[in-house]
Amino acid sequence: MANEKAVYKPPIGMGIVPNEAADSHRKNSEIVLKNSLEKSGLKIEDIDLISYAAGSGLPPCLLVGANFAKDLSIRFKKPLIPVCHQIAHLEIGLLKTKAKDPVFVYLSGGNTQIIAFVEGVYRVFGETEDIPIGNCFDVVAREMNLPMPGGPEIEKLAIKGKYVELPYVVKGMDVSYSGIATAAINLFKKGVTKEDIAYSLQETCFSMLTEVTERALAHTGKEEVLLVGGVAANKRLQEMMEKMCGSRGAKAYVVPAEYSGDNGVMIAWTGLLAFKKGWKPEFNDLIKPKWRIDEINWFK
Ligand code: KG4
Repeated sequence: MANEKAVYKPPIGMGIVPNEAADSHRKNSEIVLKNSLEKSGLKIEDIDLISYAAGSGLPPCLLVGANFAKDLSIRFKKPLIPVCHQIAHLEIGLLKTKAKDPVFVYLSGGNTQIIAFVEGVYRVFGETEDIPIGNCFDVVAREMNLPMPGGPEIEKLAIKGKYVELPYVVKGMDVSYSGIATAAINLFKKGVTKEDIAYSLQETCFSMLTEVTERALAHTGKEEVLLVGGVAANKRLQEMMEKMCGSRGAKAYVVPAEYSGDNGVMIAWTGLLAFKKGWKPEFNDLIKPKWRIDEINWFK
């Protein structure tokens, strides 16, 4: 578990610039590998297989990791395992908590999905129809001149805020966040305080997710919820999910903060799982930028 990382930070006031992020990955690959070998006390020759995130994600960034991994696998004659980024978030959650067969609530800057494992596939029971929740927080935070990533800043400000009305958008099992982001930005421009925007954003966005997650529990008959992805670190979200679970005799789990955001350990661990069960991807390309979790036969 040498969870070494070097995280790209976008320029102030901007979102991710894909080619800049890819450059940053390129500059940091060797050093992150060196640090993780040092931390684990292993040599590259001791490693049994090389895993990398094949998708989903931004193509220039995925290609840096994929080519680096491929090069290592050829040089040191180790098997090369492409890993689905989304499955890795779920599997590290299962590894690091006592959850056995939960409804997963996967929330990050790039994804918002309610997922459960049913008949060999991680099925998506609900998801965002437009932007992911982390992106919604980041967009609003940027308009309010807060540092990036915006989610933790929104969480801090929300403690002192009170409720102002924002649209609450649940459509069946799906949610929608882009209209909420626009409404929040408009309220800010009209003079509503950052604290009130932050509080109302959290209350609205998290309530929508809690409602959909409860329905997924009822539908699947599962009795656990597991929060994963960067937004899982949010204490107010954890509190809401715990209350909802408590009221129906279910249990809520949260992936430890060190593994909630993107990390290399989750890719390595999921590669190991894939290798052990002889899983093979159904494509020949090195990366799959639009890979969806529910198109993967992930037999257990
Ligand atoms: O999973 P992650 O590290 O990266 C990907 O997006 O794949 O998630 C990052 C997202 C960002 O949008 C960030 O603002 C959000 O997670 N985030 C939070 C918190 N910590 C990180 N959102 C709300 N509350 C937090 N405490």
